[in-house]
Amino acid sequence: MQGKGHGATMRKKLRVEERTLSYMDSGEGEARGARVLVFLHAFPLAAGMWQPQFDKVPPGWRYVAPDLAGFGESEDRSGKPTIDDYAADVITLLDHLGTPDFVVCGLSMGGYVAFGVLRHASRRVRALVLAGTRADADTAEARTRRAAMIARLREGGVRAVADEMMPQLVGDTTRRERPETEHTVRSLIEANGPEGIEAAVRRMMDRPDSTPLLSGLEMPVLFVAGEEDNLTPVDIAHGMHAKVPGSALVTIPAAGHLSNIERPDLFNDALAAFLAGLG
Ligand code: MLT
Repeated sequence: MQGKGHGATMRKKLRVEERTLSYMDSGEGEARGARVLVFLHAFPLAAGMWQPQFDKVPPGWRYVAPDLAGFGESEDRSGKPTIDDYAADVITLLDHLGTPDFVVCGLSMGGYVAFGVLRHASRRVRALVLAGTRADADTAEARTRRAAMIARLREGGVRAVADEMMPQLVGDTTRRERPETEHTVRSLIEANGPEGIEAAVRRMMDRPDSTPLLSGLEMPVLFVAGEEDNLTPVDIAHGMHAKVPGSALVTIPAAGHLSNIERPDLFNDALAAFLAGLG
């Protein structure tokens, strides 16, 4: 994959407890000594959803993005899956990169994983970007919907899940005006296997409530919300923003849930301004 930022995006692999963890890396190159930002992807996509950000890496930054276990080219672990398994892999990756502190950017499920990283390594999180996500746990109703999704996945495969998710992931304007974006999202979903998707659903439905973490966040925090996001409506971002003293909130017009892919320029501008403000 060739990026248009300061270097090429590389695919790398790391062995973690007999498993392969695959990740995108904007590389060290001229950015040796660069600060690290780790991107955590949404369900049911993979690291490739961050390509528009890897195309515009600001000078002085190194971007990395793992395929979470069971997605893309990363293998899942055995045993009962928890959302903090993903966070543990992220921390292992950052240890491997030798970076004492880092910025975390999670979108939707990636945000749930970001909260897991905070639970285990909050002192290392230099700054946090939470896009299209929520801090609370699943309601009983949401858990019922997840159980139905598992049944649909077993019956109709990954394509059935893609059919169900697509209208929720991509906003109306994108569907109308940028059909190629829909195609990209669908391809990312359909490249995943059913086992990884099912394990992710189980992880999400059992994830803890992270709301108590919000008021204690001491690092700079940016919330990003797509104005046409029906899955995680803007109000949810406003609610979290109100609980995090000093945090910032940017809303992205004409974008649904996947604002980073739907309006990459606006997302990248918001991110670059936030990163520049870190000094
Ligand atoms: C996501 O986009 O990561 C998921 O839709 C999140 C969820 O289902 O809770």
